[in-house]
Amino acid sequence: MSPEPLLTDPKPRLQDRFGRVASKLRLSVTDRCNLRCLYCMPAEGLAWQPKTEILSFEEILTLVGIFSQLGIEQIRLTGGEPLLRQDLPQLVAALGQLPLKKIALTSNGILLPELMPALYRAGLRSLNISLDSLLPARFAQLTRRDDYDRVLAGLAHLENYPDLAIKLNVVVLRGFNADEALPFAELAREKAWSVRFIEFMPLGKSDGWLPTEVVPGETLRQEIAAIYPLLPIEAAGANPASRWCFADGAPGEIGLINSVSEPFCQSCNRIRLTADGMLRNCLFSTQELNLKAPLREGASTAELSALILNWVAQKEAGHQINQVGFERPLRSMSQIGG
Ligand code: 5AD
Ligand code: SF4
Repeated sequence: MSPEPLLTDPKPRLQDRFGRVASKLRLSVTDRCNLRCLYCMPAEGLAWQPKTEILSFEEILTLVGIFSQLGIEQIRLTGGEPLLRQDLPQLVAALGQLPLKKIALTSNGILLPELMPALYRAGLRSLNISLDSLLPARFAQLTRRDDYDRVLAGLAHLENYPDLAIKLNVVVLRGFNADEALPFAELAREKAWSVRFIEFMPLGKSDGWLPTEVVPGETLRQEIAAIYPLLPIEAAGANPASRWCFADGAPGEIGLINSVSEPFCQSCNRIRLTADGMLRNCLFSTQELNLKAPLREGASTAELSALILNWVAQKEAGHQINQVGFERPLRSMSQIGG
């Protein structure tokens, strides 16, 4: 009989049957969003979870406390749009009291001018901003909202904080924004930001994904390198992005997240907790562990830890996007947490 890991292992880790250890948790704090990106949501939005189904701050802190005991070192707050969650700076400050190495946030940037001062005071130093086009009309078409100027104002606001680590996330869609690799690279150089190109992935029911819509990151890298030669940056630890700096010494860097053309599942070290308290081992999982129910029924820390350890141990080998019979998850990115 196999022993109970919690009782025998002095320092239980979130290890799966392929030897991968989870050290990063993506924590969605809301499934709502103030944009309607074509690849993420239908125009009318999705059926938002009722407030009672969303984890409270207290519940989040209980669970993150347990995750941190199990070896989670980094938390990324996501949504939907996480800045729509009321009192988010309070959550950031409270998470800061836990023994975590890093707390980061992924946002569309619209509410940054309002919220960044409080988030900064709460200790937030690491932000990824999603921006898929530098052309206002294209941005409006993609997000179905006229908020380009607000996102740019959000980005400009970040320049008030010189010690922030800022990354720009660009999801690339063929025939839509694939011609913007160079302008984005120039922005990286000008602002000393890391610009990361993300391959379009099939998520949810209404994203219009087709294999032919995916632009391999390597194509973009070659396009940029033809004008601004690039040098590889050696990655420290598991990182889904291959990183490149400019050979001429310009600041900024280029990241390529080639999830479809070069899957990095073998070195995946992340798990996800949805806003409604479901633990997902993979973006593409078709099953999830309901943590909210036992939590609300009064399960003990030991019971919740055992459930989590068990679930993560079963993590799937990887996504099967490129294989026949691939079953796409029904949740879109906004319902999972990017
Ligand atoms: N494929 C790739 N990236 C996506 N994102 C949302 N949906 C998809 C998808 N189907 C991105 C968002 C954000 C990050 C969390 O994930 O644009 O930058
Ligand atoms: Fe909102 Fe992000 Fe989805 Fe766009 S991709 S609709 S910004 S959650």
